[in-house]
Parts: sequence; C-alpha cells; structure tokens
Amino acid sequence: MRICVLPGDGIGPEIIAQALRVLQSLDLEFETEQALLGGCAVDAVGDPFPEATRKLALAADAVLLGAVGGPKWDALPRELRPERGLLGIRKLLGLFANLRPAVLYPELANASTLKPEVVAGLDILIVRELTGDIYFGQPRGIETREIDGLPRRVGVNTMIYSEEEIRRIGKVAFEAARKRQRKLCSVDKINVLETTQLWRDVMNELAPAYPDVELTHMLVDNAAMQLVRAPRQFDVIVTGNMFGDILSDEASMLTGSIGMLPSASLDETGKGLYEPCHGSAPDIAGKDAANPLATILSVAMMLRYSFALEDAAGRIENAVKSVLKRGLRTGDIYEPGTTKVGTAEMGNAVLEALQEGR
Ligand code: IPM
Ligand code: MG
Repeated sequence: MRICVLPGDGIGPEIIAQALRVLQSLDLEFETEQALLGGCAVDAVGDPFPEATRKLALAADAVLLGAVGGPKWDALPRELRPERGLLGIRKLLGLFANLRPAVLYPELANASTLKPEVVAGLDILIVRELTGDIYFGQPRGIETREIDGLPRRVGVNTMIYSEEEIRRIGKVAFEAARKRQRKLCSVDKINVLETTQLWRDVMNELAPAYPDVELTHMLVDNAAMQLVRAPRQFDVIVTGNMFGDILSDEASMLTGSIGMLPSASLDETGKGLYEPCHGSAPDIAGKDAANPLATILSVAMMLRYSFALEDAAGRIENAVKSVLKRGLRTGDIYEPGTTKVGTAEMGNAVLEALQEGR
C-alpha cells in the first residue's frame, strides 16, 4: 500500500500528523510519502500542484489530504491559488465520486444548532459528482463583450454534464443506497436548468436496474430547506458538483461540526483521495486547537474503500466513538460538562482507545 500524504495549509499539517499516528499504530504494511499541495506548494515552488506531487499521486494507491487554502494566497491570480491544486488533483486522478457521509454521533446531539429531536439518529450520505459541472465547464472567464453598444465586463462559467458523467455517478449512488436504507434522492433544478433535466432523465433511466432502491427527485432549493426541516427523510443524496458542494456543507452542520466529517473521492477503480470536509481554518492554525477527528475518520474510509480493510476501519471508528463517550471535545464540539482538549491530546485519546480495543 503506497499512500501519498498531502498535509497542505493551515491546520492541515496538525490534523494529518494525528491521522498518521493512528494509521501507524495499526500494524499494517504500508509506505507513506509526503508532498506539497496548495499554498505551501505555491510558496515553495510557485505552483499549487507541482510536478513532483502529480507523479507521487499518480503512483500511489491512495492519497490522504489535510486541507488547502488561506487568505495569504487570496490575491494571487486564479491559476496560482491553492484551490487550483485541489481541483487539479481531483481531475488528474479522475476522482469523480465524492462520498460525504453526515452522521450524528449521539454524544454530539447538543452540538448541533438544530433541536436534538430533529437530528437524532441522522445518517445521510451525500454522493457529489466531483470532476464536472460548472467547476470545470468551458468556456469560462472574465471577458469584455459589447452590451447595448458599450463594452462591458462579463463573467462566464458553463454548467455542463454529459450523459456518461451522469450515469457513472448515478451508478455509484444507486450501489451505495443498496448497502444502506435503499433510498436515493437525486437533487436537480429542472424547473430552470437543462443540464439538470438531462441529469434527472439519466437517473430515471438507471432506476429499473435497481428495483430494490427507491429513487426520488428534489429541486435543490427544496432540498436545502428539507435538510434543516426534516433531515432524517434522507438516506443517500446524489447531485452535481456545485449543488453537492453547498448541500454537503449544510448537511455537515446538522451533525454539530464540520470538524467531524470525513470524505472519500474515488475513481472508477476505487483508488481514492481521502480528506476531511472542512477547510484549512487559518484562524486556528498552529494553535493545537483543530479537531483531528474528520481526518482520522478519513483514514478509516481509506482503509475501507481503497484497501478493503473493513476491520481496521471499524476499529478506528469505534475508537472515535469511545473518545466522544469519554467526554473529550475539541473547541468546535465543546459544551459545558465535557473536557476540552487540543489536537494532539485528541489524537492521543484515539490511540489509547485503539490500543485498548475500545
Ligand atoms: C470542498 C471545497 C472545495 C470545493 C474548494 C476548496 C475548491 O469547498 O471540497 O467542498 O468547492 O470543492
Ligand atoms: Mg465545499
């Protein structure tokens, strides 16, 4: 198992350090190699996705990523921004299927801004298409066009999906629903956008091959509302790149903190990139205040999806649950009556729980 490790920016190095300690404690045979992605890569070599990183990522069996970005690089031209590194690696590796589970741990029911009775038992999987849509569509840019006889600047992006792209993410979502509650909700905006009409058509065409899965459709504005009104109606949600970006942040807050949510981005063969859903949190970087659990849980997803090590994945997830049960909390999930700990201490606690088989 060759794992390419990309700590990235902000809190990235701190949370990755804890995730690697957890991985190393499992007695598995693997090699890790670190490389630069994002702002740190811009600073070091002037490119958010350097050639050396491309090579390592292509050669690896899986990639573990911290987070990229920060205000330090905001003023750079778009091609040099840290986010370009992230989009670049997703595209280069063909990671079209982004799985973002939003699970509420019972101990964190009060950390959610929603009433505990609304979120209790919440277990949603968002399947977000990750290499198409308005994120990558051409043409794009800011240009000058003549409007009403005058030169005007216009901003252009293109929302586009081919039926092939829709079909392959649809299949991933149907298969995922099969392993869960067998309910799939496809989110679109067919009342306005043709791209998403095709999206809905292709989802409907796939449905007969999965008679055991109940397929429904929902407009994205309604889905945003339903997620806070009655989130437990959802099992698996499948949607495009941009709607998925927005809805997955929304869903994460139902669980109390975006600091708890892991993600997997997979290609056609199951090779994947694993990263927490949260960003680089530059405001708390270097302060030992970040929550490492989303990254630790991303390691569990890596073991499950890329290496079929279900047992080891389950051990990590149980260790995280047991640490929460003991009342340990980083700042983002802290509430009175629990014990506030830093990043490293949280990592220690997960390691202890693993060693004791809790
Ligand atoms: C995410 C992030 C990225 C995205 C940004 C950092 C480019 O928000 O992974 O959800 O929009 O995909
Ligand atoms: Mg996002």
